[in-house]
Amino acid sequence: MARLTILTAPDPRLKERAGPVDTIDQSLRDLLDDMLETMYGANGIGLAAPQVGVLKRIIVVDVSPKDEDRAPIRMINPEILRASSDRATREEGCLSLPEQWADVTRPTTVTVRYLDEAGETRELDADGMLATCIQHEMDHLDGTLFVDHVSALKRGIILRRLKKRKRNGEA
Ligand code: NI
Repeated sequence: MARLTILTAPDPRLKERAGPVDTIDQSLRDLLDDMLETMYGANGIGLAAPQVGVLKRIIVVDVSPKDEDRAPIRMINPEILRASSDRATREEGCLSLPEQWADVTRPTTVTVRYLDEAGETRELDADGMLATCIQHEMDHLDGTLFVDHVSALKRGIILRRLKKRKRNGEA
């Protein structure tokens, strides 16, 4: 496994739409493993392929508590089948927007259909942190960042901070 470089905003590659995966082979499984290693190495709970510069519809998530065994989920071509009308607000961060957080409101529960690394179709009912995380990561597949869900004022503040970080070579 290898650690990949995580792109940080502002970067036009984070605003692109990723294409579906049509072949699940060993190189794709290796990419999923590399994404997980990269996510764990950065203390993240989710990572989408566009964040490492790969425009494919793939995400990895693991919201298990730090003191428990890892519980990675690899999702290929994920789709939301159902989303609850009730909504929850949680503070979100993103490995591509280092050191930035904002409250984002999303459906509380979602049902997701995806292919696993063996090419099997699976469905998952997610709630709580897992539901938030999956929706956040799936947004990346359409070039959407969590700041796109907050007010223009708040977004402007965060993006200015990120530009400054890049100028200072911190990103
Ligand atoms: Ni993110």
